[in-house]
Amino acid sequence: MHIAVLAGDGIGPEVTSQAVKALRALAANGPQFTFTEAPIGDAGYDQTGDPLPEATAELAERADAVLFGAAGTYESDLRPPEARGGHALLRLRKRMDLFANFRPVFAFPELIGASTLRREVIEGVDLVVLRELTGDIYFGQPRGIVTEGGERVGFNTMRYTESEIRRVAHAGFKAAQQRRRKLCSVDKANVLETSALWREVVIEVARDYPNVELTHQYVDAACMLLIRRPRDFDVIVTGNIFGDILSDAAAMLTGSIGMLPSASLNATGQGLFEPVHGSAPDIAGKDLANPLASILSAAMMLRHSLGQPEAATRLERAVRRVLAEGLRTPDIMEPGATQVGTEAMGDAVARELARLTD
Ligand code: NAD
Ligand code: IPM
Ligand code: MN
Repeated sequence: MHIAVLAGDGIGPEVTSQAVKALRALAANGPQFTFTEAPIGDAGYDQTGDPLPEATAELAERADAVLFGAAGTYESDLRPPEARGGHALLRLRKRMDLFANFRPVFAFPELIGASTLRREVIEGVDLVVLRELTGDIYFGQPRGIVTEGGERVGFNTMRYTESEIRRVAHAGFKAAQQRRRKLCSVDKANVLETSALWREVVIEVARDYPNVELTHQYVDAACMLLIRRPRDFDVIVTGNIFGDILSDAAAMLTGSIGMLPSASLNATGQGLFEPVHGSAPDIAGKDLANPLASILSAAMMLRHSLGQPEAATRLERAVRRVLAEGLRTPDIMEPGATQVGTEAMGDAVARELARLTD
C-alpha cells in the first residue's frame, strides 16, 4: 500500500511523523506500507514557488491514500491566494473531488476529566460532523476585493448546486444507517437561498432512507445545542463553512482540537486523512503538539481507504491504552496524569502496538 505523506507546515511534520511511526509499528505484524513524502503548503511554496507543486498533486492522486499534516502559517495567510500555504489544501480537495469530510467527535472515557466541559455533559458523546468540502462560499465565483464608490469592497459567493447537496446528503444518510440512524442537517434556511435549496434536497434524499430519522437545525442553534446536549447528535451533515466552524467547536467535547481526526473522501474511494487542527504556529517546533489526531486519522485511513479495519481497530486500541496509562500532551493534561511530548506520545502508541498482537 502506497501512502503519500504531505506533512506541510508548523506542527504538521511533527504530528505526521508520529502517525507514520504508528503505521510502521503496525507493519511489524500486519499490512505493509511504502511512504512517499512531498512538499505542500508554505513548504511547497518555498521549494517550488507553488504551495501545491504539480508533482505533489500527482503523487496524491496516484497513491492509495494521502496522509496530510497541516498547511499555512499566519504570515502566508496574508499573501494572495496563489502564494498562501493553506490554499494548497483547498486546491487539492477540489482537484481530487474530496467532497465528503467525516470528522468524528468521540469523547474518550479516559479524557472526560481533560475537557473544559462538565462530565455529565460530555460523557458518551459519539457523533460525526459530515462537512461538504468542495463547494459553498469557499469556492463560489465571483469573489474578490474591488474599489467601489471610493472604498474597498470584499465579496464572496455562497453557492451550491443540487447535485453537490444530493451526493453529500446520501453520504450522510448512509453514515447514519451504519450508526444510530439519526441525521441532523444544519443550515441557515431562514436567511440563505443556498440553505433553502440544501434543506429541500436533503428532504428529497430522505425518501430513500425511511429508517433514518432526519431533523434540521439552524447553524446558530446547532452550535448552542452541540454544547448543551451533545449526546443528542449522531450524524450532522452540513455545508463547507458551517462544518468548518462547527467541527472546531465540537472538538472541545473531546478535550482538545488535538484529538480530532478526519477523512476526506471522493466518489471513487480515494481519501485524504488529516487532523482537523492547523499548523499551530504558537507551539510548533517545541515537542508540545498532540499527535493523536494525526494517529487517529491514520486509523481512519486504514479503515476507509486501505481496507484494513482490523489494523484500524488495533491502532485505536493502542491509543486508548496509552490514555489509560495516564500519558498526556499539555493540551489534554489533567491532575495526576503524566505529561509527555509529541515524540514520547508517538513512541508510547508504537510500543502498545508492538504488544497488541490480535
Ligand atoms: P490551529 O488549529 O493551528 O491552532 C489553534 C489552537 O489550537 C492553537 O492554540 C494551537 O496551539 C492549538 N492546537 C492545534 N493543534 C494542536 C495539537 N495537535 N496539539 C495541541 N494543541 C493544538 O488553528 P489557527 O491558529 O487558527 O491556524 C494556524 C494556521 O494553520 C493558520 O495559518 C491556518 O490558516 C492554518 N490552518 C491549517 C489547517 C489545515 O492545514 N488543515 C487547519 C486549520 C488552520
Ligand atoms: C480545515 C481548515 C481549512 C479550511 C483551512 C486551512 C483552509 O480550517 O481544514 O478545517 O478552512 O477548510
Ligand atoms: Mn478548520
